[in-house]
Amino acid sequence: MPDRQRRSRVARLKAAVLVSGRGSNLQALLDAGRTPDFPVEIALVVSNLPDVPALERAKAAGVATKVIDHRGFADRAAFDQALDTTLRAADVEVVCLAGFMRLLTAGFVEAWRNRLINIHPSLLPSFKGLHTHRRALAAGVTLHGCTVHFVTPDLDDGPIIAQAAVPVLGDDDEDRLAARVLTAEHRLYPLALRLFAEGRLTLAGRRVLVSGDVDAGGALFNPALK
Ligand code: GRF
Repeated sequence: MPDRQRRSRVARLKAAVLVSGRGSNLQALLDAGRTPDFPVEIALVVSNLPDVPALERAKAAGVATKVIDHRGFADRAAFDQALDTTLRAADVEVVCLAGFMRLLTAGFVEAWRNRLINIHPSLLPSFKGLHTHRRALAAGVTLHGCTVHFVTPDLDDGPIIAQAAVPVLGDDDEDRLAARVLTAEHRLYPLALRLFAEGRLTLAGRRVLVSGDVDAGGALFNPALK
């Protein structure tokens, strides 16, 4: 039996999801985790803020939660140390950032190198940082989207695992565009995590190569003539 099938039937990869707010990407991962063949168990949700909707989503799904309030720590290193201890105590094997609004120290990122994944709402390397939809509209791009990538110490800069593109439409405002990208995020993150858990990703410099069958989907044109 191939490794990935054996894993899905026996031990699924244990993931923690780090959140700070709404948690819609967390929800997508929780929903994926409920399907029998998904090779990842969302075992723990950690928030740096109390009382955020993401924590309610985790509890509703029966997943363990932990609040590590960053305001109780002297500096980033102390917070990251507590985070690291929590993740290790839970035997976490992969960490997914999903709307986690804290910068992580280089030490933490190095300790979780190639096991730390983020989703960013743009087609990287365009529009790193905040307000990506506003900036995409201002730049006049006709394609925008989202990226799942490995985290490195530089912000939004790590090797790209998967991307999804969406069209920018003439009557878009920030909210409409954000909603279209978010729908794509909710499909992309579980897909990328599955590829990781199935052992199908290989790093080649800055590139991530994917083994096995994938449907690359072809080119998306915008505008496209009917
Ligand atoms: C998403 O757009 C994600 O790409 C970005 O922060 C947002 C989090 O939204 N990193 P949610 O908390 O997952 O709903």
